[in-house]
Amino acid sequence: MVDVILGLQWGDEGKGKIVDYFAPGYDVVARFQGGPNAGHTLYVNGQKVVLHQIPSGIFHADKINLIGNGVVLDPVTLMKECATVASMGVDYKKNLFISQRAHFILPTHRALDKASELQKGTDKIGSTLKGIGPAYMDKTGRNGLRIGDLLDKSFTSQYIKLRLKHQRLLDNYNFQEDISSWEDEFFEAVEMLRSFNIVNGEYFINNQIAQGKRVLAEGAQGSMLDVDFGTFPFVTSSNTITAGVCSGLGIAPQNIKEVFGVSKAYCTRVGGGPFPTELHDETGELIRKTGSEFGSTTGRPRRCGWIDLVALKFACMINGVTQIIMTKADILDALPELKVCHSYSINGVETNEVPFQMNKLDIVPVYESFEGWQCDSSAISTYENLPVKMKEYVQHLNQHLQVPVTHISNGPGRDQIVKA
Ligand code: GDP
Ligand code: IMO
Ligand code: MG
Repeated sequence: MVDVILGLQWGDEGKGKIVDYFAPGYDVVARFQGGPNAGHTLYVNGQKVVLHQIPSGIFHADKINLIGNGVVLDPVTLMKECATVASMGVDYKKNLFISQRAHFILPTHRALDKASELQKGTDKIGSTLKGIGPAYMDKTGRNGLRIGDLLDKSFTSQYIKLRLKHQRLLDNYNFQEDISSWEDEFFEAVEMLRSFNIVNGEYFINNQIAQGKRVLAEGAQGSMLDVDFGTFPFVTSSNTITAGVCSGLGIAPQNIKEVFGVSKAYCTRVGGGPFPTELHDETGELIRKTGSEFGSTTGRPRRCGWIDLVALKFACMINGVTQIIMTKADILDALPELKVCHSYSINGVETNEVPFQMNKLDIVPVYESFEGWQCDSSAISTYENLPVKMKEYVQHLNQHLQVPVTHISNGPGRDQIVKA
């Protein structure tokens, strides 16, 4: 049996916290796509930690954590993360497993990511510069190196071949930076990786399922960043949606039961691309400040705006969401008025559908206003004690999306979550 937790917006919905919260009910937590572009924040005994590639179940000693084949892995970042979790008492050599089919992010992938972004003018993707796009390009272009290739004698010669190919591309970009220190770090990390649990991920996870173990698939990024269904070309390079779980872990779709979709009570986006409900005023500024909306991976300020039910309904449809987890409700505590976008007006025509080429359209969000609850909600632990106005807001989402909001997160802490 497999359940899924994934983001319904443009990432940073609070997936890390939610995975950590649900992990006790599972035996395996598995990442199925993305790489160190992800930044998943957890609070463990009051200490903040940001995970990039290690699944967010790692702080539960009895859980298996799998990095699936759909992930692109940077060994340098991984070693840093391992050092962090080890300093917090985690025995990662025991409960972290890596699929041999996961692809490497090479130093040149990072350089190519940077070079390609530098070359773009005003239409920058605003990538995390972690080498994600180039690594997935090498995967689909049938060039990439996989974790299992480490065991081949030809690993270094394969690397050198790819390195030459990448150098030609870098020369075309006129990229001058010296990346030899990145390469030194890379090979050092690759050596360390040899002592990790590198497994045949698809047999590994299917054996777990056959034994009746419960698997939680942890999404990275968000549905609106999906390479097929997101706001292309302002997207990431993987399938962030439920379908990605099957290809990213090697499991059949009928194993998937619950799909928990995580959404903020408002909306954020980091990097370039369309964002119809973005606020450019003091309310947007207030949300950014109150919600500490700065990227967990890059530190960039996140763009903030009202919740977008057109995009959310679309994400529920594409993912088959069975339950919604609404996060950061507490961030709206002080606001006297909240707005909810139900439809888009495009050239005077109203639509409830996410349009093709969103970036080329002038989209005016059509809002309904709600009264804010204007009280501190962060210490409340039962649904009945939540402010009436917050419950009305939640009920409105239930009705509109036709998917129940089953949990409301009202603070970053492990215990700050209310069951509806
Ligand atoms: P992820 O990428 O989806 O895991 O989300 P991030 O960790 O990048 O960003 C979410 C941020 O919001 C983190 O700093 C979390 O600690 C924080 N957070 C998560 N849920 C809540 C919540 O309900 N209230 C508040 N105030 N903060 C939250
Ligand atoms: P988590 O898992 C928010 C965004 C980048 C950029 C675009 C492409 O923490 O929710 P990439 O480096 O993937 O090629 O960048 O996607 N992006 C994210 N935004 N949260 C993330 O991950 C993101 N991962 C990538 O800002 O706009
Ligand atoms: Mg994040």
